[in-house]
Amino acid sequence: MELDFSEPVYSSVGATERTSVCLCTLLLRVCPGVWKMLMAAVCVALLSGLQAQDHPGQVSIILLGATGDLARKYLWQGLFHLYLEEVGKGHHFRFHGTALTSTEQGQEAIAKVLESLSCPGDMASGHCAELKAQFQQLSEYRRLKTPEDYLALSKDIEAQVEHEGLRETGRIFYLSVPPFSYVDIARNINSSCRPGPSAWLRVVLEKPFGHDLHSAQQLAAELGSFFREEEMYRVDHYLGKQVVAQILPFRDQNRAALDGLWNRHHVERVEIVMKETLDAEGRTSFYEEYGVIRDVLQNHLTEVLTLVAMELPVNTSSPEAVLQHKLQAFQALRGLQRHSAVLGQYQAYSGQVRRELQKPDNFHSLTPTFAGILVHIDNLRWEGVPFILMSGKALDERVSYVRILFKNQAFCVQSEKHWVAAQSRCLPRQIIFYIGHGELDSPAVLVSRNLFRPTLPSASWKEVEGQPGLRLFGLPLSDYYAYSPVREQDAYSLLISHIFHCRKDSFVTTENLLASWVFWTPLLDSLAHEVPRFYPGGAENGQLLDFEFSGSHLSFSQLLPEQLVPGPDSAPLPSDFQVLTAKYRDSPLISAWPEELIARLAGDIEAAAVRAVRRFGEFHLALSGGSSPVALFQQLAAGHYSFPWAHTHLWLVDERCVPLWDPESNFQGLQTHLLQHVRVPHYNVHPMPVHRRQRLCAEEDQGAQAYAEEISALVTNGSFDLVLLGMGTDGHTASLFPQSPAGLDGEQLVVLTTSPSSPHQRMSLSLPLINRARKVAVLVMGRMKREIAMLVSRVGHEPKKWPISGVLPDSGQLVWYMDYDAFLG
Ligand code: BG6
Repeated sequence: MELDFSEPVYSSVGATERTSVCLCTLLLRVCPGVWKMLMAAVCVALLSGLQAQDHPGQVSIILLGATGDLARKYLWQGLFHLYLEEVGKGHHFRFHGTALTSTEQGQEAIAKVLESLSCPGDMASGHCAELKAQFQQLSEYRRLKTPEDYLALSKDIEAQVEHEGLRETGRIFYLSVPPFSYVDIARNINSSCRPGPSAWLRVVLEKPFGHDLHSAQQLAAELGSFFREEEMYRVDHYLGKQVVAQILPFRDQNRAALDGLWNRHHVERVEIVMKETLDAEGRTSFYEEYGVIRDVLQNHLTEVLTLVAMELPVNTSSPEAVLQHKLQAFQALRGLQRHSAVLGQYQAYSGQVRRELQKPDNFHSLTPTFAGILVHIDNLRWEGVPFILMSGKALDERVSYVRILFKNQAFCVQSEKHWVAAQSRCLPRQIIFYIGHGELDSPAVLVSRNLFRPTLPSASWKEVEGQPGLRLFGLPLSDYYAYSPVREQDAYSLLISHIFHCRKDSFVTTENLLASWVFWTPLLDSLAHEVPRFYPGGAENGQLLDFEFSGSHLSFSQLLPEQLVPGPDSAPLPSDFQVLTAKYRDSPLISAWPEELIARLAGDIEAAAVRAVRRFGEFHLALSGGSSPVALFQQLAAGHYSFPWAHTHLWLVDERCVPLWDPESNFQGLQTHLLQHVRVPHYNVHPMPVHRRQRLCAEEDQGAQAYAEEISALVTNGSFDLVLLGMGTDGHTASLFPQSPAGLDGEQLVVLTTSPSSPHQRMSLSLPLINRARKVAVLVMGRMKREIAMLVSRVGHEPKKWPISGVLPDSGQLVWYMDYDAFLG
């Protein structure tokens, strides 16, 4: 037997009964087989009993942190709103504002807040004044600190209930206090302030709920030792935003239209965005510990994501079903990688942290204040659809929205002027849950007119009036069916009402909370030492933070050629970013994350190739071996379709004295990662002749001279268009090693040398030949290069000790390409 507590039954009972209904629903969910039937019978009896009762019930609401910011701005107003909604429906209320401050100070603060409360605009002022006076009468301030204070509160509630001939329905404890005090408060409530067995207890908690999976588990376990799951209401205020709360009802009421559209075949991408203009000033002690991902993405944006992505339960008004489906959505999220994120920090942030947290002058924070994240969902509905989550402080506007952009396979033959206004299938098709602010300056649900006319409850949603000239997401407002709430309501009022009505689906359960941390924690760990991109803030950000994705990689669209300059004798700090003249050893430096760096270098090489071919008909490129250039070769092979390979000559900077087919051969690396993928004519490929007469690098075989002759024959003035070098941890470059004079100066173009590491015998272009090049690019990547990069930044021209320091083209250009790991370690 299944007892169905869905809407018809649910709405036919009063609030007291509803709370019993939620208890019953829960018991029914957890009780197996026979017990379930028994419980159902008990519940039916209980409900009929309750309906028959004639003692009015009292709900006591205890607001902890009642004089704090959140309470002053939203919570008292939310409680007043609840009172206005429920008064006259058979409930009595008492409101106890509590804090640690003295009674006198607290009373004074509360009186001020109560005075400022407002009624909805459509309520007559006389009626409003009357209800406000009642609410003030029912509200008190008291200090709540010691276990005795909690006990006294409990006794007072019981005495007052008895005195007034009421029965106690329940107690709501709203903890608007820092999480470090949760456990003590929970212990006190549990031991001294629980209501009697016939009344319920609800404890409301505000984020943050942990810092990562481990701390969230710990906090959840501690709270779980005092409260049952159904007693805890974890607030995510985004779930109280009217538009967010409308996502599931919208999906439900428009099933017919959405069933075929809400999937990977039709959705191009989903954007979930919260942009803010404010920065973190005044909150840096919190923000330093959390940053934008923990502050906004792990909770608000993830909650919204699950509402969009989850499978729609048959009964969307069943909190259990909603929560269950939400959990399944979490389970389908693909794990995030470091390259799933781009991070930024507004420039003034570190200064604010230094001031507010009394940090030393050289303190620089790595906390991101901006993040873009690419999420994929591995299930049949969403596979392959990018979900972009983005939030940041100090951006150009304040706005939050979810945008679902649909694919468009239509091709319109007639010119645009013949399109049916707003209805053309060639216009963008999108649904936008406009959460608030922005150009529209009100919450709204927008559906492109060329999609379908949506259904929204007409009692609470009205069509938005036209605003000439207003364009949203590329379309004029008139191209949308647009609805906004008849009466705007703030998130906390809605949530407080949902707490009262036991709507657990508007809150974060322990299971869902931990699922969210399971998803975010690995990414947070992998980003812990990432240096964010610095941005000036506001409109000046320009395109600096724009990002794009390719497969599962996200990267900033704009590559920054100049990011870092190390001080001459100090370790480079993130503050060294933004220095305009980015130089390293007096030559230009390009620094970025590895992927960006490689993309930039590949782009530069292609540009040089195109230029050279245009001017001289050919391009001579000399490439180094080793591991650093592998990613470059792959990039050139995969993404550079306009590269003039047919006119490119490929030379080797150096070679190990092994046969060319040996895996250690530089030529073999070039062959594997580049040559076999591109169309370079065979006669343009010039491996080093290390293997002659079945011998390796024998002086008398004159391989070095032969290579020098080949170069002289084909490369005008022996001047390569571009030479790609690396830098070893000992300062070697090409196969020119410290303390070994061969090839550092003199007439020889190509030399045999000895490496300290195996294979010891090498062939290398000489330093004078390298320095004849038009352009020399030195690619330095990886943390292992950090020390030598710092050292070489300080030394002069000392090629004997550090051959790399001898690289200085006679008349060409030297550019350093260094990734952040090599630079910052
Ligand atoms: C809070 C974050 O949860 O949400 C803040 O801690 C952020 O950093 C705020 O500013 C944004 O909320 P809203 O309602 O203004 O969009």
